[in-house]
Amino acid sequence: MRLLLPVSIIVLTLLKDSWQATKIKIDPGVKPTFISTSQVFKVQSDETVVLPCRVANPGPFVLVWKRGIAVLSAGETLVSPDPRVTLNPDYSLEIKEVLPQDAGDYVCQIGTLEPIEITHTLVILLPPRIDYIKPAEHLDVKIGSSVRFECKSSGNPPPKITWSRINNILPSGEQTVTTQELTLDKVDRRQAGTYQCLASNGVGEDARKNITLKVLYPPEIVLETPVVYSGLNKEAQLVCIVHGVNQPTVTWHKHNLRLNPTEHHIIVPRVTRYTLIIRNVTENDFGNYTCQAENDQGRSKKVIQLTGVPPPVKVVSPRTGKCKDNYNISWEVESFTPITEYNLTYRLLGDVNEDSTSKYATKRGGKRFDKRKLAMPIIGSLQSVGLQSMSYNIRGLEPNQQYEAHVTVKNKYGWSPESEAFTFKTSDSDESTADNPHLFADNAIGDVQSVRSFTANKAQLIGSTAVTFIYTILIILLFFN
Ligand SMILES: *[C@@H]1O[C@H](CO)[C@@H](O)[C@H](O)[C@H]1NC(C)=O
Ligand SMILES: *[C@@H]1O[C@H](CO)[C@@H](O)[C@H](O)[C@H]1NC(C)=O
Ligand SMILES: *[C@@H]1O[C@H](CO)[C@@H](O)[C@H](O)[C@H]1NC(C)=O
Ligand SMILES: *[C@@H]1O[C@H](CO)[C@@H](O)[C@H](O)[C@H]1NC(C)=O
Ligand SMILES: *[C@@H]1O[C@H](CO)[C@@H](O)[C@H](O)[C@H]1NC(C)=O
Repeated sequence: MRLLLPVSIIVLTLLKDSWQATKIKIDPGVKPTFISTSQVFKVQSDETVVLPCRVANPGPFVLVWKRGIAVLSAGETLVSPDPRVTLNPDYSLEIKEVLPQDAGDYVCQIGTLEPIEITHTLVILLPPRIDYIKPAEHLDVKIGSSVRFECKSSGNPPPKITWSRINNILPSGEQTVTTQELTLDKVDRRQAGTYQCLASNGVGEDARKNITLKVLYPPEIVLETPVVYSGLNKEAQLVCIVHGVNQPTVTWHKHNLRLNPTEHHIIVPRVTRYTLIIRNVTENDFGNYTCQAENDQGRSKKVIQLTGVPPPVKVVSPRTGKCKDNYNISWEVESFTPITEYNLTYRLLGDVNEDSTSKYATKRGGKRFDKRKLAMPIIGSLQSVGLQSMSYNIRGLEPNQQYEAHVTVKNKYGWSPESEAFTFKTSDSDESTADNPHLFADNAIGDVQSVRSFTANKAQLIGSTAVTFIYTILIILLFFN
C-alpha cells in the first residue's frame, strides 16, 4: 500500500500526459501549423515575459527555440544554461527578470523537413536616464555672453528632451522647449535661474537634471525717482534699487564726500532697496547725492537730486472747456515751501478738425512769443504749504480750437520743472450763459487787478491780456502773512 500511492500518481501523470499528447496529435497525416503568430513583446527590464508557441498537429516533429544561432530548447529539453529561462509544458518560453541584453528575435521552429517557424521580437523598455548635462550643473557667465546647454539622455524608446526654467518662463517667452540643446544668446541678468532638462519616454519615471545659471554683471542701479522734492525740517528719502550678484557694496556720496550713517543721515539697506533717509532737511542738504554700487564685476553710480523747488504741477481741469472764448485752467501742486509766483504759457495749436501739428508749425513760424507779467495782490490768506489748488481763467480764446498750456510755479528755491504740455479745447458754443457775461464784464481785457477771490488753499485768478495765439502770463503772488 505504501508503494501504491506514489506509483498511482506516476501512472496518473503518464495518463494525463498521453491524454494531452493524443489531444494535440489529432491527425499524424496532417502537417503541423502554428496557432501562435509572430509578435513583438515590449517589456520593462526586470519583468517576466512569456513567448508563446502553440502548434496544431505537432506530430512527431521536434519543436526548437532559438535565438540567433543559439538553441535554447529542443523538444522538452531546455538547453539554455541561463537560470532565468524556463520552458513551460505548452512549449512557451519564459524569461524572468529580463535584461536589456535579452532584447532581440526569438524563433520557435518546428523541425519538419522544411522547417517552419515564428519569430517573436523582444523589446526591452528602459526608463529615461540623463547621462550628462553640459557645460556644468552650476554655471557662472559674464553678462552679454552666450551659453549652450546640452542634455544627453538614454532610454528605450529614446527619450524626448524638454527644457524649462524653475518658477519662470524661458527667456524666449515659452514655458518649455523640446530640444536637446538650449542656446541663450547675450545673457542678461533676467536670464539667470535654474534651468531644468526633463527626459521622458513614457517608461517608468521621467528623469530631470538642473543647470543653475548665474549671470555676473556690474551692479545696475534703478532710481525710484531722480529728483526728490523736499522742504525745511521735512524728512527726505532717497532710494536706489540695486541689482547685482555677489552682494554689491552700496555707498552714498554728496559732492564726492562719502556719507556715513549719522543721526541726520540714516542708511537703510533692504535686499535690493537702499535708502538714504535725511532727517530734518536743512538748506545745506539740498544738492546732488550719488549712490554707488560695486561688486567684483565693476561699479556704477546714479545721481539723485534733493531740491527745495516745487515739484511739477498737475493740471486737473477737463480737456474740453465749457465756453467759446475762455477756459478755466486749474492745477495742483504739493509744495513744502510757500509758492510765490506762477508762470502760465499757452498757445493755439489749431482747429480741432485739422491736423494740429502742421497748423502749429506754420503759425508759430510767423509769430514771436508775447510775454506779459501780471502782478497779483492777494486778498485773504493763502495756506503756504501742502497740496495747493489754483486756477486761472484764460480769456480771449477762439472757439473750437485746441490749445497747449504749460504751468510752472516758484518758491524761494526756484521754479518747478515744467509740467507736461497740457492740451485743451474750447467749446463751439457757450454751455452756460448765466455766469460768463458777468465774468467778462468784471474783467476787462488788460485789467491786471482783476483778482476775484482767494480762499484758503485756492487761488483763482481771472483776467487776461490782449489776445494773440501765444501768451505767457506770469503771476506774482504777494503774501501778506
Ligand atoms: C532642481 O531645482 C529645483 C528647484 O531648485 C529643485 O526643487 C529640484 O529638486 C532640482 N532637481 C534636481 C534634479 O536637482
Ligand atoms: C530740525 O532742525 C531745526 C534747526 O536746525 C530745529 O529747530 C528743529 O527742532 C529740528 N526738528 C526736528 C524734528 O528735529
Ligand atoms: C545736480 O544735478 C542736476 C542734474 O544732473 C544738475 O542740473 C545740477 O546742476 C546739479 N546740481 C549741483 C548742485 O551740482
Ligand atoms: C475754475 O475752476 C476752479 C476749480 O475747478 C473753480 O474753483 C473756479 O470757480 C473756476 N472758475 C471759474 C471762473 O469758472
Ligand atoms: C514762463 O514759461 C515759459 C515756458 O515754459 C518760458 O519760456 C518763460 O521764460 C517763463 N517765464 C518766466 C518769467 O519764467
